[in-house]
Amino acid sequence: MVAIAENVQHRLTIQTVEIAPNTTAIRSLDWDRDRFDIEFGLQNGTTYNSYLIRGEQTVLIDTSHQKFRDLYLETLKGLVNPKTIDYIIVSHTEPDHSGLVEDVLQLAPRATVLASKVALQFLEGLVHDPFSKRVVKTGDRIDIGKGHEMEFVSAPNLHWPDTIFSFDRKTQILYTCDAFGMHFCDDRTFDEDLEAIEADFRFYYDCLMGPNARSLLNAMKRMGDLGKINIIANGHGPLLYHHLDVLTGCYENWSQRQAKAETTVGLFFVSDYGYGERLGHAIAEGILKTGVGVEVLDLSTAESQEIQELAGRAAGIIIGMPPSTAAAAQASISSVLAVAKNKQFVGLFECYGGDDEPIDTLRRKFIDSGIKEAFPAIRIREAPTASTFQLCEEAGKDLGQLLVRDRNIKQIKSLDVNMEKALGRISSGLYIVTTKKDNASSAMLASWVTQASLQPLGLTIAVAKDRAIDSLMQVGDRFVLNVLEEGNYQELKKHFLKRLHPGADRFAGVKTQTAKNGSPILTDALAYMECEIQSSMECSDHWILYCTVQEGRVSKNDGLTAVRHRKVGNYY
Ligand code: FEO
Repeated sequence: MVAIAENVQHRLTIQTVEIAPNTTAIRSLDWDRDRFDIEFGLQNGTTYNSYLIRGEQTVLIDTSHQKFRDLYLETLKGLVNPKTIDYIIVSHTEPDHSGLVEDVLQLAPRATVLASKVALQFLEGLVHDPFSKRVVKTGDRIDIGKGHEMEFVSAPNLHWPDTIFSFDRKTQILYTCDAFGMHFCDDRTFDEDLEAIEADFRFYYDCLMGPNARSLLNAMKRMGDLGKINIIANGHGPLLYHHLDVLTGCYENWSQRQAKAETTVGLFFVSDYGYGERLGHAIAEGILKTGVGVEVLDLSTAESQEIQELAGRAAGIIIGMPPSTAAAAQASISSVLAVAKNKQFVGLFECYGGDDEPIDTLRRKFIDSGIKEAFPAIRIREAPTASTFQLCEEAGKDLGQLLVRDRNIKQIKSLDVNMEKALGRISSGLYIVTTKKDNASSAMLASWVTQASLQPLGLTIAVAKDRAIDSLMQVGDRFVLNVLEEGNYQELKKHFLKRLHPGADRFAGVKTQTAKNGSPILTDALAYMECEIQSSMECSDHWILYCTVQEGRVSKNDGLTAVRHRKVGNYY
């Protein structure tokens, strides 16, 4: 059944599908959503998946986003008399899944909410009237009849602190909410078209799950104890069935890779569903792109030995300032300071400084202990925007690059000299890629650019994974490729190679015009092309982007493209 409500800007539809005996998926399809949590651009919309299981007792797993309120509640009423719902499982308390729990509770007064302890604490703040509740954790089971027995698995930090998975022993369906999801909106309920979904599946992992690779591996270990899993019924995108092994294998490989990173940064903050957590995630994303691992610990709940073990072992330490009222978190910061060593780098951030512990006091303590600052302390005084998250990601990249600098130089020196000289004979042009999305803009000097197709006109660009521009260069994004002119490029090249503080304006002091696609055109370039990224291919430490060209212009007909000759091929 499909119910549809359309308005001018956004198509919202609901799909209900029987996915197993007595089991219905209620998928809210948000076709045109183009952004998630400000920092996360979407190319293919998203879905919010909820599930109804009817044994002798009735269980609803998660709900939907508030924007689906009427559609979702009408659909639910069409499937079941809400008064007969016995349990509502809240996998975690973010509003895209639990935004309608209060509305459902009003229709289902006898329902008991099943959730983790932390989730129930959050939910008590969101739901105004008292409700029946029960904490569930790993190993707890509830028999709902007709052979359906629900077993719970604690899966904290995926990607919020209060997450649980639920497993139905009869149908062997594992309900994972955010984990194993993807922002991909499609009529197809399942994952039959792997090619269509793999880029979004990977992007989602990188943005949401990557910073918690260790938590993910722990959760996957617990999943292994459940026995065979037929379907992973996630909270976003198509459900995993046809390619379940391949896609869970990807999660395992990506997480193993990160957990085994030679160098690790400890990220410490208080999980409170606030902006601090999102800023921490953006910093973590930047670090991960440099090949450095990140381990996250909650200052208010982690054991002090756990905190000291990570703070002592990590090459870098990031601290999100907790509120001065959070006594346990303040004590945890003292634990970090006690083991910090002078070979480490530190980065601090705070948001809505009002009642946060003053950042300068802590900064001074680290510096007095001989610990170097990786980036200037980040202080956010207003609600974050896209450029705030860009700043945080750039700060994370700066820290990651500092930590791998020596190792990379050693690797460069250890390569075969003849081979690297031969590779260096591949010549290329010189270009500046410029892009702007919302209030975030970026640029990079590029030389690995080549034409790749005639119809349509297309080209490829290689972008290193640790480039600051990477988050604005996803499939579907648009940018301008500026061609530098032989004999007239030194100033632009120097400007765009300059290392800036995170968040600094890349275009200050440079003459630009605005392209039709919104990106800056460099007025002094020889030519420019407006491009759109069609696909990407992962090549070890780079992404190869295939882009089509929509517009272009040459400023000087007799100008020649600047050519770059290198001596060796193992660095730029
Ligand atoms: Fe999809 Fe964490 O909400």
